[in-house]
Amino acid sequence: MRTMYLTNEEEKALDGEHGEVVSLAMRILCALGDFFEADRLIPVQSAHVSGVSYKTGGEALLTTLRKFSSMKAKALVPTTLNPGGVDLERWREMGVEEEFFEKQKKIISFYTDMGILATCSCTPYEAGNLPARGAHVAFAESSAVAFINSYLGARTNRESGLSALASAITGKTPCYGLHVDGNRRPTVKVKVTASLESPTHYGALGYLIGKNFGDAIPLIQSGRPLPLVEAKHLSSAAAASGAIALYYWGEAPGDSDLEKVEVDGRSLAEVFELFGLSEEPEVIVLGCPHYSIHEMRKVAEMVEGRWVKTPLWIFTSRQVRHLGEQLGLVQKIEQAGGKVFCDTCPIVAPLKGFRNLLTDSAKAAHYAPSMNKMESALLSTDGCVRVALRGVQ
Ligand code: F3S
Repeated sequence: MRTMYLTNEEEKALDGEHGEVVSLAMRILCALGDFFEADRLIPVQSAHVSGVSYKTGGEALLTTLRKFSSMKAKALVPTTLNPGGVDLERWREMGVEEEFFEKQKKIISFYTDMGILATCSCTPYEAGNLPARGAHVAFAESSAVAFINSYLGARTNRESGLSALASAITGKTPCYGLHVDGNRRPTVKVKVTASLESPTHYGALGYLIGKNFGDAIPLIQSGRPLPLVEAKHLSSAAAASGAIALYYWGEAPGDSDLEKVEVDGRSLAEVFELFGLSEEPEVIVLGCPHYSIHEMRKVAEMVEGRWVKTPLWIFTSRQVRHLGEQLGLVQKIEQAGGKVFCDTCPIVAPLKGFRNLLTDSAKAAHYAPSMNKMESALLSTDGCVRVALRGVQ
């Protein structure tokens, strides 16, 4: 039974007055809203859709998108897309078969036909989809969800690819969870005494928090700033090992009586020790979440004029890759033997020919064993690049 209130206009949309696909999208949102006891639908300013890689979505994803496409689905609000399974230009260099590439291309063309921007990146906030503080949006991709709720102060629940697509088509989302003020208060205080030496350490902290606190709303106090790259690592790892969708850094309203937990240097070191390789690393993987131009520049400076002895693969958005080309950064990395791929990511791409990986991303280290059947090890970016240059860990 439907419990969520709908306006007359929304009732008409549900009944099919605005077409079959809008009615389908409304049915998806109503089911979600009723389940979570939302009181109404609210407008969203933008959406970000996951469910793009043929590796993870397979034929079922193609079938679903074919159905939406046959009903002439169109995004009503600005909408961006998560990474797919291959670099759309350099897929051969990734060792991917042509059939996989063709299916991946088809998936992306279904989305672009709907008016969705094929940004193919998990950092949409660096590719034009940057929600303002307080803005209601519908984002899938857990790392972006945690980032925009926490770092930007925007509002989204952890949407699935399907619910984000339904929001893109209708411009609405059910009002529950993190769209509601009262649900955004911190629930646990985390006092960090460990030194956070690199973005990877922030990722390790996020990993630990996600693992220990599931879907809590932590208030994290460390006395240190939270720059953007560090926030990306923290957000992605906390959302991967747990289901953190919102955290506060430094201060938050109503934090006085919270249970307090300490994270010291030992507990952070244990996160690094959790991962490990039984053999030398076969590939060094950077760019989970997708690398920014600043991260790319750092690596370019480290490898300039040298040669990597272990394959070094960097993942970013096409937009950042283009900028990196204009600035000569991609050339420096590739002249050193590295590769800069875009449109895809180290976890949703079929990484062919490697049994293990070394990464600077706690999220990639977490997912590599289950998603890629690869052992994984975690080091800072500097450590990863040093290993790439000298060939052993
Ligand atoms: Fe992005 Fe893939 Fe990592 S989507 S956050 S690079 S697992």
